[in-house]
Amino acid sequence: MLDFQGNLERTHHCGELRATNAGQQVVLMGWVNRRRDHGNLIFLDLRDRTGIAQIVLDKELIPDGHAKGEQVRPEYVVAAVGKVRLRSADAINPKMPTGEIEIEATELRVLNDSRLAPFSPSEEAIQNEEVRLKYRYVDLRRPEMQRNFRLRHDITLAIRDNLSQQGFLEIETPILTKSTPEGARDFLVPSRVHPGEFFALPQSPQIFKQILMISGFDKYFQIARCFRDEDLRADRQLEFTQVDLEMSFPKQETVFAVVEQFLAAGFAAAGVTLPTPFPRVSYDESMRQYGSDKPDLRLPGITDVRPAFTDAALSTLQIDSALPVVAFRIPSVGELSRKEREDNHPLFDLSKGAKFIDDFKRLAKGFPEAAVKVRELAGAAEADFVIIVAGDPAHHIKASDTKFAGRLSEREINVYSAAGNFRTELAKKYADKHGAFAVTEKVVLDANAQSAGAAVDGAAAFHPIWITDFPMFEYDLATAKWMPAHHPFTAPHEADMKNLVTDPASVRANCYDLAMNGLELGSGSIRIHRKDVQQQIFQSLGISDEEARARFGFFLDALEYGTPPHGGIALGLDRIVMLLAGAPSLREVIAFPKTAKAVDLMVDAPTAATEQQLKELHIRVALKS
Ligand code: AMO
Repeated sequence: MLDFQGNLERTHHCGELRATNAGQQVVLMGWVNRRRDHGNLIFLDLRDRTGIAQIVLDKELIPDGHAKGEQVRPEYVVAAVGKVRLRSADAINPKMPTGEIEIEATELRVLNDSRLAPFSPSEEAIQNEEVRLKYRYVDLRRPEMQRNFRLRHDITLAIRDNLSQQGFLEIETPILTKSTPEGARDFLVPSRVHPGEFFALPQSPQIFKQILMISGFDKYFQIARCFRDEDLRADRQLEFTQVDLEMSFPKQETVFAVVEQFLAAGFAAAGVTLPTPFPRVSYDESMRQYGSDKPDLRLPGITDVRPAFTDAALSTLQIDSALPVVAFRIPSVGELSRKEREDNHPLFDLSKGAKFIDDFKRLAKGFPEAAVKVRELAGAAEADFVIIVAGDPAHHIKASDTKFAGRLSEREINVYSAAGNFRTELAKKYADKHGAFAVTEKVVLDANAQSAGAAVDGAAAFHPIWITDFPMFEYDLATAKWMPAHHPFTAPHEADMKNLVTDPASVRANCYDLAMNGLELGSGSIRIHRKDVQQQIFQSLGISDEEARARFGFFLDALEYGTPPHGGIALGLDRIVMLLAGAPSLREVIAFPKTAKAVDLMVDAPTAATEQQLKELHIRVALKS
């Protein structure tokens, strides 16, 4: 019953036909999206990646084609030969770009049949993601997914082109390599030739791009695949793609300008105008103003409301007066009922060392002046929901209780980040009902608007911000050691170098993050380019000479052969596309992603290796039964 394609050659795509094509002879090929049987007339909605066209099979005209049309089912692959004609006025479908025309078929060839798919690509929302991922080939036929990957392609191409114009060379770096220090677990690949030895997949091209600077390439970039064995979240995958770059002799500003240009080009490809330069904030300010190092500027910030309270009031409220007392507001939500407040309590439980006051009525009863002042300081309108976050006096985190000169203490950070997390969680919760975000999260990019040259105003929807001056070290309570807050090649501020050993807490790193709408988009730094400084950093991180040699000996050697000052950054390409697609997870913009349980449901990986493979690799699997 199936036909061959034979001599037929496609002349057009389904989605491109318009009234101006009327009268033309066409050959279309694609998938049957829908079939409507009206007796003597059968209508097929034929779909390809450009859209849908309506094919009419008229029994009088082509009895043979009509008979085939009766057999055809959704997702069958067919070729239709025929003439484009205008639809009658009452049959025009203004919702379809091809809604003014249809194809009067003179021949239909059924090129392949299809089993009944577990869902139809024409369904708008498919709830069961596991089914979508198992039958990914059907899922990817959905117009929304086709749009996401077209968008990804356009963005990537524009970024690549822009970086090339800025003088960057794209150079590939190895996938089979040695462990890279990005702080996640490595994926290891056993070597058959060297029993008991392993390659690691790169967590990023970090060391290679630095070596490319030592090699004199001056400006490198790569759309680089990275691998990290970490717990998955909506914005994290095991393998993901970075727009990775490195340059010689840059100032921090030089890197910012490069990124702002290529990102604006990438956004422009998606029809979004992104104003440059991006605003900047230091890490400490970001914590004070937003309670986060990846601030979401679509929401009002956090305000210091300590002045609203007397010491006596704080003591009655059991608030630690030595710590920040801050408030934030979620616009238009109003005062919550007791039940609604209780529903929020699980969100409180996650934060250590912070107390929340979300019952404003009660506060107003006990401390009417403070309540008024808080709302005033927070700039709250009548209908805004206001929450106060403060330190819990009962909570101590001994080793780092001390306040380090010139930077926030761990306890202060706890209070700020509790406020910050709660602020974004609540905004998400109330976004739909009350429009808590100043702009909608989902900016749907209308393909037609784009091709017509209408740009979306990025200033309203996308809020990039640079975060600078991160602390160089974080105190790890478990090991009572100072740990690098970034990879250990990040240079400290030159002015802070003298404090490396005596006062590590005060040392600022010459590194920067780029955040957008509450998401970390990228991270980079000016690097250490001198061996003596690199050794000093390893030392202050408690990495012994032997360990440094074993892990990075080749790199320490390379540093001795004329290393220029250099720096760079990497941006998560998947995250950029996710934002622009208005997608809730990276899985919507990666063709074949892993599930939250770290498996590929379509190919069914990972799987056990055969005995033979294991033997060749000199590996024995020890599994507890
Ligand atoms: P970092 O580790 O911060 O820096 O990564 C840079 C950016 O990569 C993206 N990203 C991820 N995206 C999806 N899934 C993941 N598991 C994942 N992990 C990271 C994020 C992040 O901001 N070598 C340094 C960069 C440098 O210093 O130049 C690095 O990799 O968007």
